[in-house]
Amino acid sequence: MTWGATGKTADGDGGPDGGGWRGWRAAMEAALYGPGGFYRRPEGPAGHFRTSVHASALFAEAVARLLGRVDEALGHPASLDFVDMAAGRGELVTGVLAALPADLAARTRAYAVEIADRPAGLDHRIEWLAECPKGVTGLLFANEWLDNVPVEVAEVDPSGVWRLVLVREDGTERLGEPVSGAAAEWLARWWPGPAEEGLRAEIGLPRDTAWASVVARVERGLAVAVDYAHTADARPPFGTLTGFRKGRETAPVPDGSCDITAHVALDACALPGGRALTQRDALRALGVAGARPPLALATTDPAAYVRALASAGEAAELTAPGGLGDFGWLVQPVGIPDPLGG
Ligand SMILES: C[S@@+](CC[C@H](N)C(=O)[O-])C[C@H]1O[C@@H](n2cnc3c(N)ncnc32)[C@H](O)[C@@H]1O
Repeated sequence: MTWGATGKTADGDGGPDGGGWRGWRAAMEAALYGPGGFYRRPEGPAGHFRTSVHASALFAEAVARLLGRVDEALGHPASLDFVDMAAGRGELVTGVLAALPADLAARTRAYAVEIADRPAGLDHRIEWLAECPKGVTGLLFANEWLDNVPVEVAEVDPSGVWRLVLVREDGTERLGEPVSGAAAEWLARWWPGPAEEGLRAEIGLPRDTAWASVVARVERGLAVAVDYAHTADARPPFGTLTGFRKGRETAPVPDGSCDITAHVALDACALPGGRALTQRDALRALGVAGARPPLALATTDPAAYVRALASAGEAAELTAPGGLGDFGWLVQPVGIPDPLGG
């Protein structure tokens, strides 16, 4: 990434100007979701990186068990909703339907909410929507959505003032207007610490709003957001904005050729009654264990041993320290007790 001159500009509101400068929020919006945007490409997210959903079927099976707990807390309604929010190509909702016991599957209305088009050949039971349905009774699950909600990036200038970072389509950056209004209030409340030159932050306000807007659509049940997260006591001093392309981390160039993502201030997103836990703890609570099978099984039933070993390896990946296990689960019960036992 290269840097231009730092200075005040007339386009600090994030809108493009003659030189193509705009705030990161507008740049991400266009690069990820505009015409020809990264998430509209035919290969889908799985063509570029692995989420927990792609890593193992154990993940969808655990979410199916969570849906079972929500069903119980709701008193087994005649119709139970499962919403895969920001569904990619519908991999999670497909896996959840496959893992549900027949009686629960028969009562479940499955939704995938996604900006990209419905993939060909998707299970006809899955309703494909561009927006979250209203009046959800059941479980809304958003795996790696909030990290892709476009946000502004801010940086402290030499005089100690937080300024919006402006970017061109080739990834060149410069500083724009001082951060003001609700964005400045968010920074002060959620990204505390000294304003030293060069420090950077992602202003998570649009994520908080996005999360609140889908939780508001849950009438009764549970909403869960899962992402790489950080908390106010340990924000990354230079932010985490980055790119991914074809399995590799890359510079976040907003030209539609790569994913652009940043870890999420899940503590700021949490609404009253919500709590965050690690994916490791959440999956353990849902019965995903990484224990190796007993060696004796290798002689009595070699095929079962190999299957159990593979499953233990996948569970270990989903719960690994320093990896997927460190992801945060923001668990937001609506009108029911916390089904993960908090
Ligand atoms: C990192 S991918 C995650 C896909 C899937 N949930 C998974 O875990 O494999 C993020 C997805 O969120 C979708 N997305 C982003 N904002 C959205 C919105 N407002 N409504 C629906 N989908 C959205 C993108 O199109 C993309 O497919």
